[in-house]
Amino acid sequence: MQTIVTESVDVAATWINKGEIVAFPTETVYGLGADITSDAALEKIYTAKGRPPDNPLIVHIHSLLQIQEVASDMPESAKSLIHHFFPGPLTVILNKNPDISPLVTAGLLTVGIRFPAHPVAQEFLRRCNHPVAAPSANISGRPSSTDWKAVFDDLKGKIPCVLKGPQSTIGLESTIVDCSVHPPRLLRSGAISLESLRNVVPQIRAVSSSEKKHPPKSPGLKYLHYAPSAQIILCEEGNSSIDRDTKNAWIGLSQPPEGIAKAAICKNPEEYAFRLFSFFRECDREGIGVIFCEMPPADGIGLAIRDRLQRAAMSS
Ligand code: TXA
Ligand code: MG
Repeated sequence: MQTIVTESVDVAATWINKGEIVAFPTETVYGLGADITSDAALEKIYTAKGRPPDNPLIVHIHSLLQIQEVASDMPESAKSLIHHFFPGPLTVILNKNPDISPLVTAGLLTVGIRFPAHPVAQEFLRRCNHPVAAPSANISGRPSSTDWKAVFDDLKGKIPCVLKGPQSTIGLESTIVDCSVHPPRLLRSGAISLESLRNVVPQIRAVSSSEKKHPPKSPGLKYLHYAPSAQIILCEEGNSSIDRDTKNAWIGLSQPPEGIAKAAICKNPEEYAFRLFSFFRECDREGIGVIFCEMPPADGIGLAIRDRLQRAAMSS
């Protein structure tokens, strides 16, 4: 299959409206979208990514009015979160509208909903006839794609169209809050921190470490994730011993130790998030064997970076 790269939201939406799948930019990471009413298109997402069939997709909307097409009720907690954080890097889990295809929700009774803030994403979604289900636009298990070239590397020949936009400004996937349970539960950390969520809904619980081992309701959390080919070694600040025989790299907030071949020194946690996945992919292209990743402080977006680093390290 030939993969076209376009900057036209019209061209991209036309593919979606005829039952095809399209990669598109958002402020978190690129998504791989399909019309939620087309089972044939939804199937194509799982095939193109090699995605396990029990891992549900997030539904993307361009207007709050579309929520009623997708969800069946709206608890007060969800209303407040949506009021404060939509459009933006937040996914809210609600009880699903019974008409939603089980291919969107992987058979669950709940559905994840996100209203991206990215103007290109919004323009594109406005031109699609229905809400668009989209996981991150990468081969399952690989780092999420934060620019169109990463999408192209992973999915060329497997999807007909990539909507080209700028590099994703956040660089990590959305924060996910399950509002179908009471109290609501943080399922995945992201750019909207637990602190800011709790300023709006103080009862939100974080997933405990025992729940992480026996994942509750977010099936995707149990799979290997974000892994470059290189081995990932996590280091707390200033604590790392470097094997000089392997071609190695460093990403973190501090200066790298002696003997590092390639380094990304980030000014703050936001820049760390923005660069992380594209740095992983660059390291793979350059044949780096080991990537040392400095753990950032565990607050704000630092919590999400730590989560992705820990998962990447488990997978490597
Ligand atoms: O920022 C993002 O969220 C990006 C962009 C494209 O919007 N999307 C993304 O999708 O990261 P994906 O598929 O890579 O991650 C979605 C996560 C998975 O862990 C999945 O299990 C979880 O959301 N999820 C989806 N629907 C769910 C549901 N009904 N209940 C619990 N978890 C759900
Ligand atoms: Mg993903």
